[in-house]
Amino acid sequence: MWTPPDKIRHAIPPARWPSAEEAAASRWFSPIDVGPCRLHARTWVPAMVPWRASDDGLVTPDVIAWYARFAAGEPGALVVEATGIRDVPSGPLLRIGGDRFVPGLAALVEAVRAASGGRTRLFIQLIDFLAVKRRPPPDKFFARFLRVDAGHRRRLAAARGDDRWLDAPEPELRAHLMSAEPGLLKQVLTDRERRELDYGYRELVTDLDLPHVRDLPRVLPELFAAAAARAEAAGFDGVELHYAHAYTMASFLSRTNTRGDGYGETLAGRARLPLEVLAAVRARVGAGTAVGCRMLGDEVIAGGSDLADATHFARAFAGAGMDFVSVSKGGKFDDAQQPKVGEAVYPYTGPSGYECMPTIHSDARGPFARNVPLAAAIRAAIRADGRTTPVVAAGGIHSFDQAEAILAAGHADIVAAARQSLADPDWFLKIRLGRGAEVRRCKFTNYCEALDTQHKQVTCQLWDRVELDEPDLARSHDGRRRLVAPRWRR
Ligand SMILES: Cc1cc2nc3c(=O)[nH]c(=O)nc-3n(C[C@H](O)[C@H](O)[C@H](O)COP(=O)(O)O)c2cc1C
Ligand code: SF4
Repeated sequence: MWTPPDKIRHAIPPARWPSAEEAAASRWFSPIDVGPCRLHARTWVPAMVPWRASDDGLVTPDVIAWYARFAAGEPGALVVEATGIRDVPSGPLLRIGGDRFVPGLAALVEAVRAASGGRTRLFIQLIDFLAVKRRPPPDKFFARFLRVDAGHRRRLAAARGDDRWLDAPEPELRAHLMSAEPGLLKQVLTDRERRELDYGYRELVTDLDLPHVRDLPRVLPELFAAAAARAEAAGFDGVELHYAHAYTMASFLSRTNTRGDGYGETLAGRARLPLEVLAAVRARVGAGTAVGCRMLGDEVIAGGSDLADATHFARAFAGAGMDFVSVSKGGKFDDAQQPKVGEAVYPYTGPSGYECMPTIHSDARGPFARNVPLAAAIRAAIRADGRTTPVVAAGGIHSFDQAEAILAAGHADIVAAARQSLADPDWFLKIRLGRGAEVRRCKFTNYCEALDTQHKQVTCQLWDRVELDEPDLARSHDGRRRLVAPRWRR
C-alpha cells in the first residue's frame, strides 16, 4: 500500500472513556432519524467487504457470523458490504442481482436483528462496477489483445523512418512491437493501450463505442431499483447506493467523465444518472425503506472531482430526497499501484486509496478524523439549503471524545468507524455500558486492508490468533485464523 513520502509514524492518541451516565447523555449515543428509520444512536459501521460470500455471490454461514458479530455491539446502523446488483458471475462478491439471493439475505437480516436485540438498523450497499482484467503477459498483449490499426502503422513507420510498416504483414508488426524498446512503444501505442499493457484492460464509463457502456443510463436505474426491491423483500431497513470510490456511479460523477451523451461533461450531466437511479429506487421501494448513498468528498486524483463538485452533488441528492449522505474519500483505480503480471489492479493501493483508509504512517495531519472536513463542508452546504439530510463522517475514528467533538461542532450527524469496529465489534456497547477501558483499540496499520487487497478473508491482527481452541471455531481457508472476534465476556 502507498504511504506519504515524508511519512511520520503517529501514535494512537490516548483515549478517555465516559461513564455509562455520560454516554447515555451524549450526542453520539442519542437517536437520529435517517429518513423513515430511527437509529437508537449515531454510531455506524460502514460497509466493509470481508470476502465471505460463496463463489456464486450467495450469503454463507460465515457472512452471517460476520454481521451478527458486529450487531452484538449494537451500533445504530450497520451497512452490509458492497453487493453486486447484476446477475453475473463476479467471484466471492456478495450479490443481489436475482431473487435467488433473497433467502440468504433474509437470514442475514434475521441474524442481525437477533444479535442486536432489534436495536441495530441494517442497510445494504448496492454496487455496480465495470470490467477489469488482469495485467497481461506482454507476449499475449501484443499477439492477441492489441487491436492493430492504421494509426499504429503510421506511428511505427514515422518512428522507425521506414514506410514498409504501413502495409507490413500484421504478425510481423506485432512481433516487432513485442520486442521493441519502451521508447518506441511510447510513440506507437496510445496512452490507453500502454495502460492496458502495464495495468490490464479496464472499461471506462466514457467507452461509448462499447454498446453495454453506452447503454448504462438505460439499464442502471432498473438494475438498482430491482436490487433495492429485493433488499426490501429480505427485510433490510434501507439501501446505500454506492456512488463512491472506483465504481460505475462514482465514475459518472467524476470530473474525468467526458461522456458527450448528456450523462457527462457538466456538473448537471455527471449528476444525471445518479439522480435517475435515485428516482428509480425511490419509486420502487416503500416509504418505510431508507435510501441513501455513499459518495466521495474528494476523488484525490489528477483531474478528478474535488470538494466543490461533491458539495454540488450532495445538495442535489438531498434536494432529490436522499435520506442520508455518507462521505468517503479517494479509493480510485486511476492512481493504483501497478499489479504483477497475471494480477488485477486494485483501487485502494495508491495515494487516493491511502486517503480512503489512512494509516498511522501518515503526513503531518495524521490519519485520525482526516476526512471529517469534507463531511463538514458537505453538511454545511446541505443545511444552507434548509435541508436536514443526515451526513455520515468516517475515516480514522477511534474514540468517544473524538466522535463527540465532531457532533458538537456540527461537522456530521452520524460518526462511523470501520476499522475500529473490526478491531472491537463490541466497542459501542462497551462505551455505552461505561466499560470503555476494555475497548480493544485499532492500530490503524491496515493488516485487514492488506487481506482485502488480496481478496483474502478479512480479519483483524488483534484477535485472529486468539482462543483458537474454541470448539467449532470457523477458521480462514488456511486454518490459521479465526474469522470473527472472540466473544466479549461481560
Ligand atoms: C477491509 C475493508 C473493506 C472495505 N470495504 C468497503 C466497501 O465495501 N464499501 C465501502 O464503501 N467502503 C469500504 N471500505 C472503507 C470503509 O468503509 C471506511 O470508509 C474506511 O475504512 C475508513 O474508515 P475507518 O478509518 O473507520 O476504517 C472498506 C474498508 C476496509 C478496511
Ligand atoms: S487489522 Fe489493524 S487496522 Fe485492521 S482493524 Fe485490526 S488493528 Fe485495525
